[in-house]
Amino acid sequence: MGVGRASRLRMVAGVSGACSLVLLIAFYRVGSDLQVLSPVTFYSFWRTEKPLYKLDISWPKSPEKLTGQTFCVAVDHIHGLVYVGQRGDDQVPKVVVFSEAGYFLEAWNTTIEMPHGIFALNTPNASSIWITDVGTGTNGHTVKQYTPSGQLLQVIGTPGKAGSGINPLQLDQPAELFVEPMGDIYIVDGDGGLNNRLFKLTQGLKTVWLHGENGSAITQFRIPHSVTVDSVGRVWVADRANRRIQVFDKTTGEWLGSWNSCFTDDGPYSVRFTPDEKFIVVAHLNTDRISILAAPPIGSIGDCVVVDSIQLAHEVKPHLLDVSKETGAIYVAEIGAQQVQKYVPLPLRGHVLAPLSSFGLPSIL
Ligand SMILES: *[C@@H]1O[C@H](CO)[C@@H](O)[C@H](O)[C@H]1NC(C)=O
Ligand SMILES: *[C@@H]1O[C@H](CO)[C@@H](O)[C@H](O)[C@H]1NC(C)=O
Ligand SMILES: *[C@@H]1O[C@H](CO)[C@@H](O)[C@H](O)[C@H]1NC(C)=O
Repeated sequence: MGVGRASRLRMVAGVSGACSLVLLIAFYRVGSDLQVLSPVTFYSFWRTEKPLYKLDISWPKSPEKLTGQTFCVAVDHIHGLVYVGQRGDDQVPKVVVFSEAGYFLEAWNTTIEMPHGIFALNTPNASSIWITDVGTGTNGHTVKQYTPSGQLLQVIGTPGKAGSGINPLQLDQPAELFVEPMGDIYIVDGDGGLNNRLFKLTQGLKTVWLHGENGSAITQFRIPHSVTVDSVGRVWVADRANRRIQVFDKTTGEWLGSWNSCFTDDGPYSVRFTPDEKFIVVAHLNTDRISILAAPPIGSIGDCVVVDSIQLAHEVKPHLLDVSKETGAIYVAEIGAQQVQKYVPLPLRGHVLAPLSSFGLPSIL
């Protein structure tokens, strides 16, 4: 990660959009006893001239406030705030807060050793910031909840003790989490430590369900790295070292499907939805790339389709990202470049056909 500030690149190369066209052709097989009406699906892909996102080079307005390794970023879309988690020595504040407009607001530093993932829980009357701490000191191996200004509210896990226990709960290198407005918590644990677990906890920290085996069969994980929950009750997990996304029913924990074919070059590091839940945004650290995938609206997840991608400069290393539910902007925490970049959605005029899919007819974006 030896990229100095001076040489940090804000270059974006080869941004392009791609759409997929689905043709449904019905034909009759004649000459047999049965008249069979067989729908046949053809897929074709092409790149449009028009990308879906554009880099906002003016964000943030004071990039020098980011003095550490920028591992994670979370957006409070209700208050227009962007929280960046960074690592470094004692001089480096572990959380730096900017406005969505790019202004530096504050930095805080309490009880965090090595932030890995960060999540902003926002309801109209309550906001809190949740951080997974993969440090190995007295505060590490935990998930912590803070007020927006950095006051510690809750510690999940056993501080300073790595482990695989459920009661009392122990974590090892917890990677990320998602918290629902009603309080349920989904944790992916973890980032290459003892555990390869996804579990759902109630607000009172009782385990609702758990998938916890190391492996590549369905429901098993190798480095479950990022998690999100959509509005139709599906839990999406970036199963990084298995190079796939796995999806589960949030109520029962039942496995609903996997996507493998889009991640052969590099595993998914992040998983986040756009505000309309039409697309999923995935970071690839080793290939310095962001993929935009089509999201099936409900039920079975089918096969994955990459509809657009953003190629970042070499060695930028996008790690985790978040999407503003208000503006649709993507904020990318880049540990190689030690910066956070903002990509704003472009108007969709000119994108004629939406992807997609094995689920139905093409739609107009
Ligand atoms: C962060 O906390 C450490 C440990 O308490 C302290 O030594 C350091 O000065 C703090 N750094 C900042 C930037 O506040
Ligand atoms: C928000 O405030 C209302 C009214 O005070 C309360 O009933 C509700 O439970 C609060 N919601 C949350 C998520 O705290
Ligand atoms: C999980 O399995 C892989 C492959 O067998 C192995 O390299 C890794 O050490 C295992 N992880 C744990 C935590 O046991």
